[in-house]
Amino acid sequence: MAMASPQTNASLESLVLGFSNLRKARSERPIVITRGQGVFIYDENGKDYLEATSSFYCAAFGYSEARLIEAAERQMRELPFYVSGMHRTVPAAMELADRLAALAPFEGAHVAFGSTGSEANDFIIKFMRYRNVFRGQPDRRKVISRWGSYHGGTSLTASLGGSKSLHDSFALDMSDHLFVSQPNYFTDHLDGESEAEFVARLARELEETILEAGPETVGAFIAEPVCFSCGFFPPPKGYFDAICEVLTRYGIAFIDDEVVTGFARTGNMFATETYDLKPDCMVSAKALSSAYFPISAIIMSDDFYGDLEAHSDLNGMFAHAGTYSAHPVGAAVALEVLNLMEERDMVNYVRDRAVTLRKRLDGYRDHPLIADVRALGLGGALQLKAEGNGEGATGTVSGLSKAVMDASMERGVIVRVTGTSVLFAPPLIITDAEIDEMFDRFDLALNDAEREVSNAA
Ligand SMILES: Cc1ncc(COP(=O)(O)O)c(C=O)c1O
Repeated sequence: MAMASPQTNASLESLVLGFSNLRKARSERPIVITRGQGVFIYDENGKDYLEATSSFYCAAFGYSEARLIEAAERQMRELPFYVSGMHRTVPAAMELADRLAALAPFEGAHVAFGSTGSEANDFIIKFMRYRNVFRGQPDRRKVISRWGSYHGGTSLTASLGGSKSLHDSFALDMSDHLFVSQPNYFTDHLDGESEAEFVARLARELEETILEAGPETVGAFIAEPVCFSCGFFPPPKGYFDAICEVLTRYGIAFIDDEVVTGFARTGNMFATETYDLKPDCMVSAKALSSAYFPISAIIMSDDFYGDLEAHSDLNGMFAHAGTYSAHPVGAAVALEVLNLMEERDMVNYVRDRAVTLRKRLDGYRDHPLIADVRALGLGGALQLKAEGNGEGATGTVSGLSKAVMDASMERGVIVRVTGTSVLFAPPLIITDAEIDEMFDRFDLALNDAEREVSNAA
């Protein structure tokens, strides 16, 4: 049962809240979360919410996993911090690198750490350029991303995000960034176009983009296996095969952004297995530590990494580090996440729960407000029959999308609404009964939203 927690006396004046309207954040009290239990979180008034998006797709083990808290505490007491760099490191970082290398989809993988997903994506682009300088191709610095994607909040990674309005409003340097379409077959296929034709068109678009930029200037392609920020559209069959064939032909590295999809979300440890992907590098964060401590990992193939090592021999050292990269507490928590994943057989647990999630989502197929239903592993989306919404990556939504988002919050289920898609990606530990509760709450919210929109019409 929810209990009221003390409210803080802090003002609204000082804190700058991202993905929010700044004026509203100073004038209207935001939802203040004070505690969590399992898949639920509680605000300062004691109201409970089922976190149907694991707070930005992070909290894989929910909000009260004692094993992770104890792992953090043990490491805090033993050695709360020591930097990794300058030929010094800590045991947890070494052990975590070994464990991740063993799980990686490449032989002889090598692992670098960062603190956030943004930082890891930023670092890997920097590494790609360092590699290409060594290979005598310093002009190969451009990165191809996809419209609608999100790869982070630093200047460089925001430039890789697929939102034109965000590029413009922050006056981002776009000189090294190119964009191609997302494989959102449901919303973006041409009249009468089959999935195979759609895939072939996207592969052609990629090739034309490379040729127009000059293949000798393009270093990498970055993509999420399933793009959450653009509305959760699992790609059509053959999409990545066709894309990777083009990348290989032009010697362009494939950076697999598994910040969200990594660690069982899609029903496999990594989505590389789900889609049989062979990237050159993979980036992970979020569920890596169940978000209990900020840590991210860059996992590189032996071939990709080999050039970094050879270049560092020439330079005398690899002039790169981050003070908190490979933080011992983050590494200790991530090691415990990997232990829990194994002990609790989370991949199979997710596959079992995915059946219930899909069944409940399928129940909306004939709903008058729902145009499409998508599901994969413990992720899914409902496509609303709505028009005129803002771009997902800027977080602005309007009309029915906004009504659904607000009503869900009111009914105590936190979904992510991006454009016209409503996303579900609950903590991986969710039970079948909790999945039912999540959708029971959402049913009420959808009814409320329907009423609100028809009253406003
Ligand atoms: C696919 C993807 N990549 C990268 C990031 C950036 O991660 P972080 O917010 O930890 O910097 C996010 C964050 O939501 C993400 O969804």
